[in-house]
Amino acid sequence: TVSAATQPESQDSVYSQGKCHALYLWIHLKPKADAKLCAKVVADIDSHVDAVSPLDLRDEDDEIWAGVGFGADFYGKIGGQSVMDYKYPRRKGALGELPSSGGDLFIHAKCNTYSKLFELCQRIIRELPPDSVDKFEDVYSFVYRNGRDLSGFIDGTENAADEEERREIAVEKETGASYVITQVWVHKLDVINKEEDGTMEKWIGRTRDDSIELNKKPVTSHVARMTGGDNFQQRKRYQIVRQSMPYGNLHDKAGLFFIAYAASPEKFEYMLDRMVGADVDKECDDIMRLTKCVKGTYWYFPGKEQLKKLAS
Ligand code: HEM
Repeated sequence: TVSAATQPESQDSVYSQGKCHALYLWIHLKPKADAKLCAKVVADIDSHVDAVSPLDLRDEDDEIWAGVGFGADFYGKIGGQSVMDYKYPRRKGALGELPSSGGDLFIHAKCNTYSKLFELCQRIIRELPPDSVDKFEDVYSFVYRNGRDLSGFIDGTENAADEEERREIAVEKETGASYVITQVWVHKLDVINKEEDGTMEKWIGRTRDDSIELNKKPVTSHVARMTGGDNFQQRKRYQIVRQSMPYGNLHDKAGLFFIAYAASPEKFEYMLDRMVGADVDKECDDIMRLTKCVKGTYWYFPGKEQLKKLAS
C-alpha cells in the first residue's frame, strides 16, 4: 500500500470542491491529427490556466481548478499504458438509452468567473495544431438554486464532502490517476413542470424540498438503483465523487452535465448497468422519465507527474 504522504498527486479537478461555474470541453480529433502534439497542448494545462488567470493577480474569484482527460483509444495512441479496460458500450433499457459517443480529449475546469472559463476554452482550441479538431462541445455550467438539479432535487446530498474521503474515493493510490465518466443529459422540462412532487420523489427516492431519503422507496428509484438496494440507509456498494452541474438554455437544450471521478472504473459499470435493466433484477432507473442521455463516455485522467511527461 502507498501512504497518503507519498501518494502520487492527482490533477486539480479530481477531488476539489465545486465552484460557481465549470467548463466541460469535449474534443474529437481528426484521424490524421498529430496525437502526441495535441496531447502536449492540453497536457500543458497549467500554462493555459496561468495565461488566463495570471498568478500575481489571482484571487478566489478567478482561480481555476482544471484537469485533463484522454479517451482510452487516444491514450493508447500516444503510448500511454492504459489502464482503461472498460469501453463504455452503448446501453439501452426500457426507459431510454445511454449512447456511447467516444472522444479524444476532455478538459474539466472550475472557476467562479464564467468568462475565465470561456477564455480558457478559446485558448486551448486555438493552440491545438491547425486542422486537427473534428468537432468539439464546450458546455458551461452554473449553480442552480444553491446546488439543485434543474428537476428541483438537491444534487449531491450523499456525495462525500470531506477532502480526504473524496481523495480516497476518486484517486488510484499507486498512480494518482482517476477514471472519469461524462454524460450530457437533456431534461424533459415539460415533464418536470407538470408532474406531481410525490411522483417524482418516488422516481428519485428522496423528497424534493429537503432531500430526505424515503423510508420505502421503489427498487426503480434512482437512489435504489445507484446504491444497490431499496433499504433505508442501505450500505453503499460503491462510491464515486460526483461533480455534475446544470447547464443550458431554453432554446436549445438544458439539463445536467454528469461527471464523476473514481479510483477504478468498474464502479461506473455497475451503476450504468443498473440504470438500463442490465443487472440481475432487470429494473430500470426512473430518473430516465425526467431526463434523456444524449452523450457519454469514459476518460482517463493521469496523475500530475504522468501528465507533465506528456507536456514536455
Ligand atoms: C444520487 C440526480 C445521474 C449516481 C442522486 C440524487 C439526485 C441525483 C437528485 C440524490 C441526492 C444525492 O445524494 O445527490 C441525478 C440526475 C442525473 C443523475 C438528475 C441525470 C440527469 C446519475 C448517474 C449516476 C449517478 C449517471 C452514475 C453513473 C448517483 C449516486 C448517487 C446519486 C451514486 C448517491 C446515491 C446514495 O448514495 O444515496 N442523483 N443523477 N447519478 N446519483 Fe444521480
